[in-house]
Amino acid sequence: MKVLGIETSCDECAAAVVDGGIILSNVVATQIPWHAPWQGVVPEIASRKHTEWIYDVVNEALKKAGITPAEVEGAAATAQPGLLGSLLVGLNFAKAFAWARNIPFIAVDHLLAHLYASRLKYPLTDRVTDKATDKAPTDETSCSCDKNMAAEYPFLGLLVSGGHSVICRAGNFDDVSVLGTTIDDAVGEAFDKVAKFYGFGYPGGAAIEKLAREGDSEAFTFPLPKLYKLDKQGNDHRYDVSYSGLKTAVVNQLEQFRAKPRGETETADIAASFQKTAVEILLRPLLRAAEDTGLNTIVAGGGVAANSYLRARLAEHRELRVLFPPPELCGDNGAMVAGIGEQYLLRGDRSPLNAAASARVKVFKKRYP
Ligand code: KG4
Ligand code: ZN
Repeated sequence: MKVLGIETSCDECAAAVVDGGIILSNVVATQIPWHAPWQGVVPEIASRKHTEWIYDVVNEALKKAGITPAEVEGAAATAQPGLLGSLLVGLNFAKAFAWARNIPFIAVDHLLAHLYASRLKYPLTDRVTDKATDKAPTDETSCSCDKNMAAEYPFLGLLVSGGHSVICRAGNFDDVSVLGTTIDDAVGEAFDKVAKFYGFGYPGGAAIEKLAREGDSEAFTFPLPKLYKLDKQGNDHRYDVSYSGLKTAVVNQLEQFRAKPRGETETADIAASFQKTAVEILLRPLLRAAEDTGLNTIVAGGGVAANSYLRARLAEHRELRVLFPPPELCGDNGAMVAGIGEQYLLRGDRSPLNAAASARVKVFKKRYP
């Protein structure tokens, strides 16, 4: 089923076409240069740019997929969570598209879509060249089945982005229960804030990862949170994470540097030491969850899942099968929305054309007993 997916929850204006789980096109227009002067996403700018760009982005996605609007069989869009003004642009565009073409519409959850990303495949011609035969792909071999292949449900999900850090159990593409989450900042947010304080660049995640390659991750010791005991309300934080302590410690280090000028090595050392601790904070509850639940397949998603240090650290755990989407499907994109949208639509699910957008996390809320 050819599904158009639209994603405008934050600063990427994205649209894609997916058919049978295969990505026919995936267009992402990034707003990074517009937000970079503020070192963070400015909601007003984001929604205005989405409004200006969405028509062209969707058109390009259809063109790249080699189809006309009349060939689209379903429309999907992110409805939550995210910046409300931004969400409304993509959501309403998808609704209008579905109404005009008289095709089904489905509103999807951004985090469920991130978790779905690793199941998507590319047409063989895009990613793999069959040098041996040099033949056009046949139907049976028309997709690049990633060496990882799609994970069987249930598995453990690790969702790590600018707004979220979630460890969950996924029983199906739309059935998740949250085991742990952040009690303060998200991991991507910590990367962004540290980069902002130190002037490492924007967005912070990729900038820190690059700098860290030159640094010594043992040069500085930053604290790890101790959350696993019950708090005063009796909440169990066994699988939760916290980043505010790490962020404060790294920023305090900057105060010491102000007293004496820092050299280039120290800067890279800070990045490497921060990255190591940030990843360590995720790994501890994740490995604990794997052990407690007996689930040894982990599926990652979200912008921070592109981080090669995180990937390498998880790969050390031979007892686990860890699946990461390719880097371009880790950050926000329309393919993940079209992909999960197709699953809902094939099942017969539909959203009404008055479906609302919501800034708030709904599906991935941790419920304490
Ligand atoms: O999923 P995403 O594109 O948007 C949200 O849903 O939030 O994630 C963006 C986040 C940002 O905080 C960015 O700094 C972080 O992902 N990020 C990374 C890397 N690439 C993006 N963090 C660490 N390492 C990276 N390579
Ligand atoms: Zn995202």
